[in-house]
Amino acid sequence: MFVALLVATSYFTMIQVLHIAAECYPAAKTGGLGDVVGSLPKYSTRAGVLSAAILPKYDLRWIQQQEWVTVYEGTTWINWRPWHFRIQQQLSNPLGYPLFVADIPGLFDRPGIYNDPSGRPYGDELTRYICFQQAVLEWLLSFPWYHRPRVLHCHDHHTALIPWMVKYCPAYQQLAPLPTVFTIHNAQYQGAFSWKNSYLLPPYEATAGNLLDWNGLINPMATAIKTAWAVTTVSPSYLFELHQDSLGLESLFRHEWRKQRGILNGIDTHVWNPATDLSIQYRLEDGHIAEFKTQNKHVLCEWFGLHKDYPLVSFIGRLVREKGADLLPDVFRRFIYAGGRISFLVLGTGERWTEDQFRSLIYEAPGRFNAVLDYNEALAHQIYAGSDFLIMPSRVEPCGLNQMYAMRYGTIPIVRAVGGLKDTVPDIGEPDGSGRGFRFEQFNVEDAAYAIYRAASMWYNDPYTTAMVRERIMSIDFSWENTIEQYFAVYRSLGAAIEPVKPPSAEERSEESPKTVLPEDELLLTPPRRKSPRRKRTK
Ligand code: GLC
Repeated sequence: MFVALLVATSYFTMIQVLHIAAECYPAAKTGGLGDVVGSLPKYSTRAGVLSAAILPKYDLRWIQQQEWVTVYEGTTWINWRPWHFRIQQQLSNPLGYPLFVADIPGLFDRPGIYNDPSGRPYGDELTRYICFQQAVLEWLLSFPWYHRPRVLHCHDHHTALIPWMVKYCPAYQQLAPLPTVFTIHNAQYQGAFSWKNSYLLPPYEATAGNLLDWNGLINPMATAIKTAWAVTTVSPSYLFELHQDSLGLESLFRHEWRKQRGILNGIDTHVWNPATDLSIQYRLEDGHIAEFKTQNKHVLCEWFGLHKDYPLVSFIGRLVREKGADLLPDVFRRFIYAGGRISFLVLGTGERWTEDQFRSLIYEAPGRFNAVLDYNEALAHQIYAGSDFLIMPSRVEPCGLNQMYAMRYGTIPIVRAVGGLKDTVPDIGEPDGSGRGFRFEQFNVEDAAYAIYRAASMWYNDPYTTAMVRERIMSIDFSWENTIEQYFAVYRSLGAAIEPVKPPSAEERSEESPKTVLPEDELLLTPPRRKSPRRKRTK
């Protein structure tokens, strides 16, 4: 027991940053949020700053397949109703960092993250995420103060009340000295709800109510912008755009500008590696890019009945307004009906109208268009490997990871110049020769079609430039190693003593598989189990 306590104690000292989020790849992912929350702790830990992540324990396949050890059990209260929960840690640290889940029976033991399998949102999102946030804080209260993480890093609106809760809810105020960082991956979803539901919140100081309010609603994203110690967005251009247009939060963003930073996301270059990726049919060998692209393209053309000698333009992503997917059916038709020699492929699910449009296009243009209206991670890898171009006509794009995945696999991006797309894809026409893809400014069919036209013209008329651009984009370093230091700088600017445990050696840096700088047995948490004391409601 004593030994177990010692192990636990040394472990606690070492968790420096705790990421708290609704998604974390590979446990749960619907989009880029999951990818980023899965990468940040991994690469911080590799850089010597032990970081962990916690998400709700959904009833999803990957989560079911892992072995979990319960490290804490407690009860939290919402509107006088007790919710029993367990915090569990993944056994033996296979991801290279400690992953925790909050198991809250009745709220998260369901087969979907936000929606049921038929796509309908679960109606009790508020209770679910308020309860999750409280459970995480209850757990943290059980740590002796000197073993608490040095930074609480919250992501998006599901965890946006934590910076406020630790400051203004008496139950959690012991945690108030911990610096909080709030990262905005998507300000389109702010989690706003009516004051009628304020009874779901834990008791708070009477004066703290106005911090919850934005335009007459309780707006968790606004609350985090007001109360977190630092706020980051996932690209510098997106931060700038939020000051101009953020669904009503503009003046708040401007007011709080001092604590904001735009930090461009990285990608997990070990998961996204064309030389080792097991999800693709042909891997990159000895840097033979042309063979890699052609072989993988032939596979796609065979699978989807597309023309091998036409350039292949693909779209991968959620079929939602924000991503501009609703523009594509008309853009594609423009080429198809004009006899343009281009093939199109779509992978994704989303809004009914767009899905129906793509369904009918499959019948209208066999051989020229195909679509898989589903979420399929492995197929996405194959499409990145086998396409010539990837189109991203986003209305809003906080960072965008798909263009980076595409570039890593030699697929040239065609993007609308917005948010992170603007920061990562200079146009091929730039005189300084830094071009990586094709950009268009306005969100309309003409401009998107013209960008595709420019791309196809280059593909047909200038194979030399096409090959050169491919080579250039495949050699860009989008890895997290490049950006993680910027997060460390934010933590340090808040006074958090973030110190690398041990600088990674050159050998560790070049490792292909995820590897932690800490011995495995030290990464398994076996702290004393403790029930959280029942707290009396004071309101
Ligand atoms: C969201 C954004 C996307 C960003 C991702 C990760 O999904 O829409 O642009 O790349 O979060 O930060």
